[in-house]
Amino acid sequence: MNVLLIGGGGREHAIAWALSASPLLSKLYCAPGNAGIAEVAECIALDLNDHQAVIRFCQEMDIALVMIGPEAPLVAGLGDALGESGIRYFGPTKAAARLEGSKGFTKDLCRDANIPTAAYGRFSDRDAAKSYLASQGLPIVIKADGLAAGKGVVIATTRAEAEAAVDACFSGTFGAAGSEVVIEEFLDGEEASFFALCDGTTALALASAQDHKRVGDGDTGLNTGGMGAYSPAPIMTPEMTDCVMRDIIMPTIRTMAARGTPFRGVLFAGLMITASGPKLIEYNVRFGDPETQVLMMRLKSDLLAALLATADGVLSNFDLRWSDDAALTVVMAANGYPGPPLKGTEIKGVEAAKLVPNVEIFHAGTRRDGVRLLADGGRVLNVTGRGRTIAEARDAAYAALAKIDWPGGFYRKDIGWRALKNREL
Ligand code: AMP
Ligand code: GLY
Repeated sequence: MNVLLIGGGGREHAIAWALSASPLLSKLYCAPGNAGIAEVAECIALDLNDHQAVIRFCQEMDIALVMIGPEAPLVAGLGDALGESGIRYFGPTKAAARLEGSKGFTKDLCRDANIPTAAYGRFSDRDAAKSYLASQGLPIVIKADGLAAGKGVVIATTRAEAEAAVDACFSGTFGAAGSEVVIEEFLDGEEASFFALCDGTTALALASAQDHKRVGDGDTGLNTGGMGAYSPAPIMTPEMTDCVMRDIIMPTIRTMAARGTPFRGVLFAGLMITASGPKLIEYNVRFGDPETQVLMMRLKSDLLAALLATADGVLSNFDLRWSDDAALTVVMAANGYPGPPLKGTEIKGVEAAKLVPNVEIFHAGTRRDGVRLLADGGRVLNVTGRGRTIAEARDAAYAALAKIDWPGGFYRKDIGWRALKNREL
């Protein structure tokens, strides 16, 4: 069958790589793709805001499944438009994508379904937000309600910082995303990324992963989309996984179904593992980036079959097999990231790096200029290693990184530190 993958980051390269190994696949298209994806798929230019254009493409190319990678097209209702035209797609409807599109929506759902999460207040009025702030302790977390590309969260340690964050939201720093504000209790603990395929009624947990959100070594500096990840996450024991499925994922799936907006696709729970158990920080309605890169390295089953079972609502008959190996990915980012990245610098040595055993290099923001490979985004390459342990996977990834010659970029030297702490290095 022919498949159209929407997106052009490292997550989509990893998905394209896994899909291209499927015996069910005839031809893979990707819109827009990138220089790495072009090695396993035909990259095409499609205006993703023009749903009719996407539908026409699918009809002309006989697309049997559209896999939607990023959240923006889901929140904009691309899935609904495809579905109305009888085209099968992987991902939630616009109504179900509110789990990512509105933090306040998710907090209210947690309250209604008794799902453990930080205490909170929702405000569309600046004065009300500030008087709530005055009644709370510190640190405190201020979030723009809507999609803000990961930039709409402030963890304030002083009252002045908290008030400034509220002011920033209401004065339009995040556009419409900040017209409503969620203020929530600060949760202390270790973060983990939890993924479950959901077909509306059934949920199937995927392997666990942890990422590194801060730009600098030692988890310092600005927040990013993720500077590296590894799988499995030692903190996600089988008991912890059962607890998250029972107390967080399944009540969400049941509530969404009961409201007439069943969730189909992959539900990505950002968790804080606190002293009193796992709590939901937020939902995303898509695969994580760069968590997907390490999950795909460990997935032994056919990804395409899993996506089809999810889209067709037959997950209850389905299971996934994972390698016992660990995987670890290091993000190479362009200088300037997470601010405006320097674009167009040349990257050399990727072919040599690919020859390092147990390594895959996923492209995130690259393009070709003839034979030259150029940086074309903030996060640019995901150098991913596999090994019997996280330490071995890390060693493979860093051995490959040493072969890459790119003065225009940088990477963290300590990916995996939490998993390796107190273990043999
Ligand atoms: P979010 O965009 O909601 O995932 O928030 C971005 C990051 O802010 C999370 O990955 C956490 O590291 C941090 N964060 C968000 N909410 C909280 C909270 N209530 N307590 C502590 N840290 C938080
Ligand atoms: N790595 C976190 C995310 O995909 O949002």
